[in-house]
Amino acid sequence: MKENLRIPSHIAIILDGNGRWAKLQGKPRSYGHKVGFDRVKSLSIYASKIGVKALSLYCFSTENWARPEAEVKFLMSIPSKFQKDIKDYIDNNIKVIVSGRKDRVPKATLDSLNDLINKTKECTGMIVNICFDYGELNDVYNAVNYLVKNNIKLKDEKDIYNYLSTKELPLIDLLIRTGGELRLSNFLLLEASYAELYFTKVYWPDFNEDELNKAIEEYNNRNRRFGGIKE
Ligand code: IPE
Ligand code: IPE
Ligand code: MG
Repeated sequence: MKENLRIPSHIAIILDGNGRWAKLQGKPRSYGHKVGFDRVKSLSIYASKIGVKALSLYCFSTENWARPEAEVKFLMSIPSKFQKDIKDYIDNNIKVIVSGRKDRVPKATLDSLNDLINKTKECTGMIVNICFDYGELNDVYNAVNYLVKNNIKLKDEKDIYNYLSTKELPLIDLLIRTGGELRLSNFLLLEASYAELYFTKVYWPDFNEDELNKAIEEYNNRNRRFGGIKE
């Protein structure tokens, strides 16, 4: 990576293109998901090493239940693969949190995710936010219901962020989507209110450290004004 780059505090990634990547190799879609999963750990460790504070990863959306049953089943089995990696996350002081619905995911999947959360909860370095059965619309719905039920009035408009599942994270500086689609697919829409957007055709299983560096370099060329004026 080039020197003296500003490192985004919070990077969010829509990790897309596993299926198409696998098809190119003449393999089933599940193979793409497997190889894609293997990228998660190495990229997380790399991001923490270069000084990223939070990394949100879109792994399963509230809409992904619409896929064939066998694919959904395979995707639900992926969190159990984290077991073998927990030590690496702890060794790198990476804390894992999970955003998303807890009422539809199979118990074994939830147990794997909770285990990862519990075993890394004392870590004080980068936070990896696994977005699983996540959709912004559902997160806002939960927040609104909670506010109404507890008769809480927001202090100001920004206070809404304190009721989202990402409340402990800074807002997103850089949002990356791999796989070539130009949409946000119900990801962290509010948290990305002022994020710089970066779309790449590279499929997620090929999105390596060099590709992340390219995105950060591009981020450094952006002029972030937040509605103001900068010469
Ligand atoms: C991203 O890859 C992983 C998930 C959405 C779970 P896809 O499975 O969407 O792969 P493509 O977009 O069909 O290639
Ligand atoms: C978005 O990818 C969701 C995740 C990466 C988890 P999809 O492949 O599901 O998105 P759409 O439906 O093509 O927008
Ligand atoms: Mg896709």
